[in-house]
Amino acid sequence: MRLQPIILGLLVATTPITAYTPKSHLNYTVIPGIFQQDDPATNASTFNFTASNFGLIDRAYPSDSTCPNRKQSTQWQRLAHYISTLNSKAKKTDRYVLFFLGRHGEGYHNAAESYFGTPAWNCYWSERDGNGTVTWADAHITPKGIDQALSVNAFWKHLIKDEKITPPQTYYTSPLFRCLSTAKLTFQGLDLPMKYPFVPTVKEHFREGISAHTCDRRSTKSAIRTNFPSYRIERGFAEKDPYWMELYAEPRENQDARSKEVLDDVLGSDTSTYISVTSHSGEIASLLRVLGHRVFSLATGAAIPVLVKTTTLKGDVPATPTLPYTPQKTCAAPPTIRDSSCNDCSCCT
Ligand SMILES: *[C@@H]1O[C@H](CO)[C@@H](O)[C@H](O)[C@H]1NC(C)=O
Ligand SMILES: *[C@@H]1O[C@H](CO)[C@@H](O)[C@H](O)[C@H]1NC(C)=O
Ligand SMILES: *[C@@H]1O[C@H](CO)[C@@H](O)[C@H](O)[C@H]1NC(C)=O
Ligand SMILES: *[C@@H]1O[C@H](CO)[C@@H](O)[C@H](O)[C@H]1NC(C)=O
Repeated sequence: MRLQPIILGLLVATTPITAYTPKSHLNYTVIPGIFQQDDPATNASTFNFTASNFGLIDRAYPSDSTCPNRKQSTQWQRLAHYISTLNSKAKKTDRYVLFFLGRHGEGYHNAAESYFGTPAWNCYWSERDGNGTVTWADAHITPKGIDQALSVNAFWKHLIKDEKITPPQTYYTSPLFRCLSTAKLTFQGLDLPMKYPFVPTVKEHFREGISAHTCDRRSTKSAIRTNFPSYRIERGFAEKDPYWMELYAEPRENQDARSKEVLDDVLGSDTSTYISVTSHSGEIASLLRVLGHRVFSLATGAAIPVLVKTTTLKGDVPATPTLPYTPQKTCAAPPTIRDSSCNDCSCCT
């Protein structure tokens, strides 16, 4: 779990993730009644997406009467027909897109937080690269994280073969190692259409909310290329991480602004209707806020589908001021308390 960076009184001017200024921008609305996850009655902490057909609600759609082979069609096939009907009838400025947002499998930073307890993790260990035995800077996924990703891969195999789901047409991933490898384990070896192979694009702004934790510092572009040679890397991606700052954290407002920018950027250049994004708990929470979805926390390895209507609006994105990064306090020695009420490092001893 990622905790919000602690905001202290002192604000320092730093280089934030920069905004670009398009001539139009997109507005997002979640289409309700399609997936259980957006129903307020669904409890995110007990919901099991693989046991419930990804949350797809069993129902009729207004387009069912024109669905080819309706009687033999699965719920996913009728949904695909519904989405294609919505798109063919939509106004020029409107478009319907189904996002699959997946969280990475358990990383060494997640395991370390459980091992040390949240106070000692936040105020001491997370700012270090590791503890001599385990490294959590740009954390890799643990054996448990690998199993989680492989079970999602098996789930996709089942969805494609038995439920006749329309698989993603394009794939995006955070540049952090845990997402790069989760995406690969999740989607490689699937029976995908020739036209839509698994060739993900690495995008900077799908990364986790940036805290002082070294697990939020990415590796170089060259290292990503070496480890994931088949991946595309977006244009303008810097060799060295330009955004992570020792002992500083990105404010949530900045994170939401860049989440909106990256969604606008993807939809402005990608005509796909089915889009996969492999990202993080904090960043998926931010994407859900931007899309207008209710809060829905994902366990490591979990994924959520979101059907969204996007509307192109004229003019720039309403201005959101870019705030300076906030300094993060640490303890000189790990606090011994395990109670997570001690998030502001007041328990330093
Ligand atoms: C933008 O989307 C929100 C819901 O996400 C909706 O309430 C609002 O009416 C939309 N605005 C425009 C101008 O379409
Ligand atoms: C959701 O489930 C958790 C775990 O069983 C429980 O603690 C929590 O109270 C539930 N939340 C709601 C709103 O029912
Ligand atoms: C979710 O359901 C699947 C399939 O029914 C099961 O194998 C898996 O153990 C469940 N996951 C959790 C976390 O309960
Ligand atoms: C380092 O942390 C891991 C948990 O992430 C733990 O299993 C291991 O025992 C620790 N090593 C030392 C030397 O404390």
